[in-house]
Amino acid sequence: MGCGPPSLSQNIATMTSFPKQFFWGASTSSHQVEGGTYNDWSEWEEKNAPRLTRQARKKWTQRQQEKFPEMFDEKNYISGRACDHYNRYEEDFDIAQRLGHNAHRLSLEWSRIEPEKGKFDEKELEHYKNVIAALKKRGLEPFVTLWHWTLPLWVRDKGGWQSSRTVRYFSRYAEAVAGYLKNDVKFWVTVNEPEMYAHKSYLIGVWPPQKRNPLLLIRVLCHLASAHQEAYECIKRIAPQSQVGIAKQNIYFEAHPNNTVTRAAACVADWWWNHYFLRRIRTYQDFIGLNYYFHRYVWSPPEDNAQNVSDMERELYPEGIYPVLKELACYDKPIYITENGLADINDTHREWYIRETSKHVRRAIEDGVDVRGYFHWSLLDNFEWDKGFWPRFGLVEVDYTTMKRTVRKSAEGYKTIIENASAR
Ligand code: FCB
Repeated sequence: MGCGPPSLSQNIATMTSFPKQFFWGASTSSHQVEGGTYNDWSEWEEKNAPRLTRQARKKWTQRQQEKFPEMFDEKNYISGRACDHYNRYEEDFDIAQRLGHNAHRLSLEWSRIEPEKGKFDEKELEHYKNVIAALKKRGLEPFVTLWHWTLPLWVRDKGGWQSSRTVRYFSRYAEAVAGYLKNDVKFWVTVNEPEMYAHKSYLIGVWPPQKRNPLLLIRVLCHLASAHQEAYECIKRIAPQSQVGIAKQNIYFEAHPNNTVTRAAACVADWWWNHYFLRRIRTYQDFIGLNYYFHRYVWSPPEDNAQNVSDMERELYPEGIYPVLKELACYDKPIYITENGLADINDTHREWYIRETSKHVRRAIEDGVDVRGYFHWSLLDNFEWDKGFWPRFGLVEVDYTTMKRTVRKSAEGYKTIIENASAR
């Protein structure tokens, strides 16, 4: 893989074929940026911060420990004020607009909107109406996610996604929100990365509610699929013109070309991780939202293949988005890349990564794949779940003490990519 950052102009010169109406933007989620949320995650953080702090020494490399000493501070693991985006969204959207974005993906916080069973908070609904109006005023098309992993405490107490009742609760929530925002929102994402949530929370047991049970994993996935289907039907009934899908995290599983066993293993992994859920909801989606982050060798990678890595020591493999997109074409639906990004505090790789990714997206489009948008994860540095604040995913740096926003250089590079892609 070529890693040195080649000159920007050379690459842009080859960029010819993004559709005119392409959406360019960034993505966030309520719990990670808003601050002041009170849900199953915020309770879990309070209980687990001491343990996560203790485990940091075992979990992360020496290099990471030296670079991010805040991982040894319990406060790192408590979302608290996050980026205070709940109060500063206008300022943040000003930045997105200035950076040339024409769309933005955000999520609504279920625990704010329905803090008690069946009681919808008009003030919070109005807050989100204002947030969406603020986006539209700046020419940013809102892509609205209904559920990005956090549950109201009352839903958790009734069994969360283990319980079939949550399917009913979720569709009632979807109905209330779609009824309220039907004239404001066209693009809806019902659930974010159902497979990632279900594996981490119910199989590996590292996220709330920390279960390790393959039967529960299947049960939760089934409930999430039903929840999506019911929400899809509600939203389409209320707002027939709307476009509804999910955000699905797909991985490029690479088999050894000459080894049948690894090819078979890659096929199984591909079927389970990438397609099982999408097939279950196949006839209930107007588009596919793709979150692309990972490439996995199904055999050990060649030794001389020194890779660029992010601050989380994850391989950076932007070209993997091409085979993933090609494979998704079989669903015959428009595709929006709803997330793609990296933790990179020094901003060393981000611009290169976005540029390479966009080249491979363009290649897929040239091959006939119907890709209609790209949302970088994330607009802002934010709270990265059980890792806390140290991984820095933002186009915009956030100083968590002063809440000052500083635009990173890569964000300007992304702006140039957008401008050049849109100029043709
Ligand atoms: C994705 C999540 C998002 C963020 C990024 C880094 O899997 O959807 O909330 O944590 O990873």
